[in-house]
Amino acid sequence: MDLLIKNGTIVTAVGSYEADVAVEDGKIVAIGKDLDGDAKKTVDATGKLVLPGAIDAHTHLAMPFGGTVSADSYLSGTRAAVCGGVTTVFDYPVQHKGETILGLINSKKEICEKEACCDYAFHCCITDFNDGEILDEMEEAVEKGITSYKCFLVYKKEGMMVDDGMLATLLLRAKELGAMINVHAENPDLIDLRVDQYLKEGKTSAWYHYMSRPEFVEAEADKRVVHWSTHLDAPVYIVHMADKEGLEACIKAKEEGHELYVETCPQYLEFTCDVYKREDGRNFVCSPPIKGQESQDALWKAIKSGFIDTVATDHCPFQSYEKDWGKDDFTKIPNGCAGVENLYPYMLGAANAGKIPFEKAVELCSTNVAKIFGCDNKGDIAIGKDADIVIYDKEKDFTISVNNMHSDYDHTIWEGKKIHGYPVQTYLRGQLVYDNGEYVGTPGDGNYIKRSPKK
Ligand code: URP
Ligand code: ZN
Ligand code: ZN
Repeated sequence: MDLLIKNGTIVTAVGSYEADVAVEDGKIVAIGKDLDGDAKKTVDATGKLVLPGAIDAHTHLAMPFGGTVSADSYLSGTRAAVCGGVTTVFDYPVQHKGETILGLINSKKEICEKEACCDYAFHCCITDFNDGEILDEMEEAVEKGITSYKCFLVYKKEGMMVDDGMLATLLLRAKELGAMINVHAENPDLIDLRVDQYLKEGKTSAWYHYMSRPEFVEAEADKRVVHWSTHLDAPVYIVHMADKEGLEACIKAKEEGHELYVETCPQYLEFTCDVYKREDGRNFVCSPPIKGQESQDALWKAIKSGFIDTVATDHCPFQSYEKDWGKDDFTKIPNGCAGVENLYPYMLGAANAGKIPFEKAVELCSTNVAKIFGCDNKGDIAIGKDADIVIYDKEKDFTISVNNMHSDYDHTIWEGKKIHGYPVQTYLRGQLVYDNGEYVGTPGDGNYIKRSPKK
């Protein structure tokens, strides 16, 4: 036996209990009371929680975007991930005209083989069909474990947008292949109209980022996605849900039995659009923007009632000088914020404060992600699963600061946030990679996760 974690409280999506966990060759091989045997390493987890590593279903690492490249490389982003208890990240490489899915994914895999500090998988963003080649290639890509594809219904001027015809085609093709379409839902024409109006009026502060894409702009696109998905009977996953009206349309479709998944992000659960009135409002600029209190309340309610399936970060940080490009013009602010290191501590902190059960935090941040996206060996503390394990101290106090994060960015929207309870150790397939504030792994140790299509 390589590792024995003794006397902890195991938390899964369905319950918690005290037991020991034995690990061999990177897998959980036994769970039970008073396990013993010749372990190379024994960890005393008395009084601590033993959790499955989180799976961040939504990151943008080293992504060319907004006139620059997102500030975390595959190395720094995945290093930060494990330091926050995330043991698998999903990245979103963007396919552009002329590019093949596997050409793009293989180029990212090459980087990850050298740099990744946690396991990794890819959702591929499709922006162009290359005269139909992409639809053909999807079959081979699914066989190679790329079982989810993203459609941006926005970023028209950036050349990343997918129109309704492409969305419908992709929904049907994915369904045929047992794959999933992930959608960023906002209405681009409404945004453009409103942006032009505000710029003409000289309204250029970060507040107008929110005003140009408020609740109803997201809701229209959410409803359109629900409409296509339900009428075509094709599953869909809506990323970074931030508004109440769109969420309600999803809840209705779910209640009617349609296969539709909803992701939200910690920034929408913690902040409201008032942050855009702050002097540093541009640092919070992401799309969709953070909405009002009513939407935030609706998101928490949907988490509690089981209508939100996952919480992921949309980690896409930029440096302060890049955010500053938009000091006098909100359209020049690169869109995106940091979060990969804050996801699990934030959601577990909410559990520690009694807002949700710990089991719910595990379900949203790990178990459901593994199930929805076909990571068969992840997402649970169970015999046969990868030994991706987080040891969590419910009593440890932590104040988030850019100085105690493990990313490459120079500021964080989470600065000053106090969290009661924090991960103290992270194991990636049985290897200690994070220990009480320090990254102790080796870049390149992360593995590519070949995912299974839906049967
Ligand atoms: O503002 C964001 N969310 N930036 C990353 C790209 C995206 O839309 O997910
Ligand atoms: Zn998006
Ligand atoms: Zn995103």
